Amino acid sequence: MSTPTILITGAGGEMGHALIEALADAEVAIVATDLRPLPSNIAERCVAVLHGRDGDVTDPAFVRAAAEYPIERIFHLAAVLSTAAERDPVAAHRVNVEGTLNVLELAQMLGRRHDRSVRVLFPSTIAVYGFASLDDKVRCGRVRENDALEPQTLYGIAKLHCERLGIYYSSFYRRLSGEKPRVDFRALRFPGLISADTLPTGGTSDYAPEMLHAAARGEPYACFVRPDTQIPFMAMPDGVRALLQLAEAPVERLSRRVYNIGAFAPTAAEIAAAVRRYFPDASIEFAPDVHRQAIVDSWCADVDDSAARHDWGWQPQYDFERAFAEYLVPAVTRRYASVETTERR
Ligand code: SER
Repeated sequence: MSTPTILITGAGGEMGHALIEALADAEVAIVATDLRPLPSNIAERCVAVLHGRDGDVTDPAFVRAAAEYPIERIFHLAAVLSTAAERDPVAAHRVNVEGTLNVLELAQMLGRRHDRSVRVLFPSTIAVYGFASLDDKVRCGRVRENDALEPQTLYGIAKLHCERLGIYYSSFYRRLSGEKPRVDFRALRFPGLISADTLPTGGTSDYAPEMLHAAARGEPYACFVRPDTQIPFMAMPDGVRALLQLAEAPVERLSRRVYNIGAFAPTAAEIAAAVRRYFPDASIEFAPDVHRQAIVDSWCADVDDSAARHDWGWQPQYDFERAFAEYLVPAVTRRYASVETTERR
């Protein structure tokens, strides 16, 4: 059997890095795309790297370039995150919606050409949920997949729309023409992700990773949300594991195409307390930004992920305590110690 080819869009982002590293020992040929060239340690793990116009999911050149490879699985990670999307909704819509449409068309085209279905893994988000008031958010508690789908951000609206597009391509695509749908779309609604190796750009859950990384670097941090702010979070290794696990799940096990996944749901005050426990000199103050606060206040406090647990055995490895003790703190400490050593050289 030949080595399966997988496509990873947005490979230069946080999740792309972590996914490519997690696939280091896997028997797969990786085609990676990003707007910019990838760092050499990531690029050397790929059989091809498409960047510039070929790496831009909004550009027809991307579809043409990617279609040269016998891709049978796609991890479509390219996206503009929520704060950045509020700053430029038109550009974010282009990337997040039109880019996803191009990926789904590419998958359908490749499936047709090779007479098989192409799995498309899609990171969706807790931003698809929306509450009109904090009282509603608190009252709802752990949200289920079909609850409160009233997103207030362009990011959440675009992701919810793309979930529906993925279902359309998997089940109803061009049914007037009789063409067989060739896409097997699977989405995970991710909580805020915290990585020890990278920092996100343009998200609104960024206060958690920023607080941790600032403390590890010995820098002060002004948190842009109130101490009582609560949304779900997850350690990056669990996020990548969830993506890979859902990618492998037999289709007959899936009762839905879009799943919540959860791990822990601390308040910003609890995150600050954990950071201070490990970095006693950390200087953290709370200086809420009214607009970014409104975004996280509209997101759910926690998720009900029982469908993922039941259907494909989802189980996070890291709860809040373990995430700090066994992953975040050791890895972030190593990371900045090695940066210091390199800088001193
Ligand atoms: N982490 C994302 C953001 O903050 C939400 O899923 O935009």
